[in-house]
Amino acid sequence: MQTMAIIGAQWGDEGKGKITDLLAEKCDLVVRYQGGHNAGHTIWVNGQKTVLHVIPSGVLHPHCLSVIGHGVVLEPENFLNELSKIKTITNVSPENLKLSSNATVITSYHKLLDAARESQGSEKIGTTGKGIGPAYEDKVSRHGIKVKDLFDKDTLLKKLSIGFSEKAVLFKHLYLMEIPPLDQEVDRLYKLGMKLKDYVTDTFGLIDEKLSLGKKVLYEGAQGILLDIDYGTYPFVTSSSTAGAGIYTGAGIPGKKLDEVMGVAKAYTTRVGEGPFPTELFDDLGAEIQTKGHEFGATTGRKRRCGWLDLPLLRYAIKCSHLTSIALTKLDILSNLKDLKVCYAYEVNGKIIDCAYPGMNLYEAKPLYKSFTPFHDDFSGGKPSKEFEHYLHFIQEGLGIPVGIYAYGPDRNQVVFHQKYF
Ligand code: IMP
Repeated sequence: MQTMAIIGAQWGDEGKGKITDLLAEKCDLVVRYQGGHNAGHTIWVNGQKTVLHVIPSGVLHPHCLSVIGHGVVLEPENFLNELSKIKTITNVSPENLKLSSNATVITSYHKLLDAARESQGSEKIGTTGKGIGPAYEDKVSRHGIKVKDLFDKDTLLKKLSIGFSEKAVLFKHLYLMEIPPLDQEVDRLYKLGMKLKDYVTDTFGLIDEKLSLGKKVLYEGAQGILLDIDYGTYPFVTSSSTAGAGIYTGAGIPGKKLDEVMGVAKAYTTRVGEGPFPTELFDDLGAEIQTKGHEFGATTGRKRRCGWLDLPLLRYAIKCSHLTSIALTKLDILSNLKDLKVCYAYEVNGKIIDCAYPGMNLYEAKPLYKSFTPFHDDFSGGKPSKEFEHYLHFIQEGLGIPVGIYAYGPDRNQVVFHQKYF
């Protein structure tokens, strides 16, 4: 196995950081290909917590080259802050962290626009407020600032001016807001650019070269397939290709097929922000899972909505990214609950549906549940209980792909491997 992807199979926050960190030990490169600092990937090592936002989760293994591909949207100030924090924990330098010269820059205007829309617009998405959507909009409308543009003031001024007059009108007349003048933003971005310059390179060429040398590459997704701009629960999605397709456009794996595509899923479901959620729990049990699972956003601190595992959505996620195995996380949170359920299908207008599909109206889906005898495993060694095995078997059979890893706690060693990777 030379190439593998780790992709969120739900609405994000599935524990991708932990799984990436685990597998990075055996890899040469870990590559982020989409999203930005809206992500919050948490890694626990020996009781110490590290939250990464845009730096790949392989960074705690200094032998591993961390790569931020061109599909990522980068907020330079946040990147530099994250970098200085991570430097206090591990060795990071331009030798082992590379940033694409072609990644799109998140400017102050993007952040302000995101915040203004969320607070004043009628259709609230519940974004992270980091400017992700507006930055991708500028990229697609061909007004985007690329990382390489940060190194020359004239270029920066020229490019930033293109979209500026439109934005200025919008802020002044629609949102009734003052925005930083153009020359101030150019100065700010230029200074930040100078500080990150040493990390910048052609990451596409780099990945291409490493692949031809037979190096092992792990692609790390951010958010989850159900938040994908095309496959997700539109419009309540993020603005990037979070599914496997994003790897091909956002980083590069020239002409090559991924050997393994692992979907990471929590043993229950969570969602932050607005949008449909068929198995959402509004009762005490939902609150118990939220508290026990510390279900707060790693980036925004917002409470995550909680519900039962949803197989019709997971089956859909498997199809969207051709997932080959699943890592099932946070099983410890379900241990000792008084009730345990899995949604195996939906009823929609009298019809049974066992796999969601693009554009499906999830608000109409009535979840059908199978109840399980609760398990009380503490996972501290020894044989898993029959109840737990029955539960796991049901999920695996229901998905049709193996549960290759299951995790029962935040720390690196709180996992069981059922399959060998790399
Ligand atoms: P944006 O990515 O900030 O534009 O937010 C769009 C939607 O994606 C909102 O519902 C966010 O809560 C959600 N979202 C973005 N990033 C993450 C993440 O890393 N985990 C979970 N949800 C996220």
